[in-house]
Amino acid sequence: MSETVLLVGGGGREHAIARALAPDCTLFACASNRNPGIAALAAGFENRSETDPDAIVEYAESIGATLAIIGPESALAAGVADALEEAGVYTFGPQSTEAQIETDKAYQRSFMREHAIPGCPDFETFEDIEAACAYIDEYDGDLAVKPAGLTGGKGVKVIGDQVTPEEAKTYLRESEYDRVVLEERLVGEEFTIQAFVANGEVRTAPAVQDHKRAYEGDEGPNTGGMGSYSDTTTHLPFMTSEDYADAVEIIEATVDALEGYKGVLYGQFMLTAEGPKVIEFNARFGDPEAMNTLPVLETSFLDVLVAAREGDRLPELLFTSQATVCKYAVPEGYPTNPNAGAKIEVDEDAAGDALLFYASVDEREDGLYTTTSRSFAVVGRGEDIATAETISEDALSAAGEGFHIRHDIGTASLVQSRIDHMNELQN
Ligand code: AMP
Ligand code: GLY
Repeated sequence: MSETVLLVGGGGREHAIARALAPDCTLFACASNRNPGIAALAAGFENRSETDPDAIVEYAESIGATLAIIGPESALAAGVADALEEAGVYTFGPQSTEAQIETDKAYQRSFMREHAIPGCPDFETFEDIEAACAYIDEYDGDLAVKPAGLTGGKGVKVIGDQVTPEEAKTYLRESEYDRVVLEERLVGEEFTIQAFVANGEVRTAPAVQDHKRAYEGDEGPNTGGMGSYSDTTTHLPFMTSEDYADAVEIIEATVDALEGYKGVLYGQFMLTAEGPKVIEFNARFGDPEAMNTLPVLETSFLDVLVAAREGDRLPELLFTSQATVCKYAVPEGYPTNPNAGAKIEVDEDAAGDALLFYASVDEREDGLYTTTSRSFAVVGRGEDIATAETISEDALSAAGEGFHIRHDIGTASLVQSRIDHMNELQN
């Protein structure tokens, strides 16, 4: 039977999902922004808000969708998966209550504590901001201050890294959050593992390291992610295969405790001197990490979705043994003061051996221009990280003017600095 799949979302992550699914099914997509890359792969593309369940269900019914997949967390939080399931469309994505594992950080930490899931940092939740400030004063050590709700990764402040204790308290007093989590600052190297989950089964992808800081050398404000890399093995150069296995065990324990979860479960880990600890879980693919993972997935992603829907065992995942380097091109000034309106000169042909993924672009008569969000990403694949990095840079040389790009992502010196950092912590 041929499948008709509805994809919700219009960013780089969803372009990667579209590219993975399009050859095997009839694909339709909807998002609040028009993504020209997805539109070119899809049989239909409609402008619908990702947070409007009724409008999305109506579109799913009009195309006769047999499956749906949701990219962004905003749609999960808004109950799009619940509404699609209610309309009889199997959706590879959690219900809004299950997505709380991402959308409510206080719930996430309490869940880990309650189920004794390993890798949970010391934490407390506060509704009273003055009580939170007193906790900062009393706590012996540095804390990470996290609003409980969704902030696109930009609401977290880490004492001893980004802010002083005094600045953290001022931040809390000025921000008017109604609930915050204060947790032990974890020191180490971050990595992501994305797991495909359904019918009680877990299939994990190779680890990816995302670079969230805006500027080279991992400096500057946090962003949604400036670029990311993966290696030819399941683990990354600064970790061991045991570290990867330990993190997978944490994901498996979480899936067991969640009971009935389906969709992608994304674990964000800090590899500390004591092993992997959980920074957070997301209920969806990462952006950019989906662009590292899906292009090296040899197993048909559609087969995974169909097995999930049919209640079958999920296929074992095969990945090409290639390293990947993904780099985002964002408007100059991003994220604090982004300048929209730069012309994007690169297209899929000019990207050469790299894959080009569109994110937020403004389509005008004479071409594509930047908005104030991340514009597009290129992904190089190769026999090692250095080769993949060169391929991504070759594509970026055709980007055009007016972009900010972290050219250091995937370079030998940045990769080595992460290894050196881990060695320092372990000695
Ligand atoms: P989150 O929104 O939870 O992903 O947090 C955003 C970023 O804040 C993470 O990618 C980390 O760099 C940092 N962060 C979050 N929690 C901690 C923690 N407990 N210790 C150190 N850094 C953290
Ligand atoms: N790359 C981080 C995220 O998708 O949340």
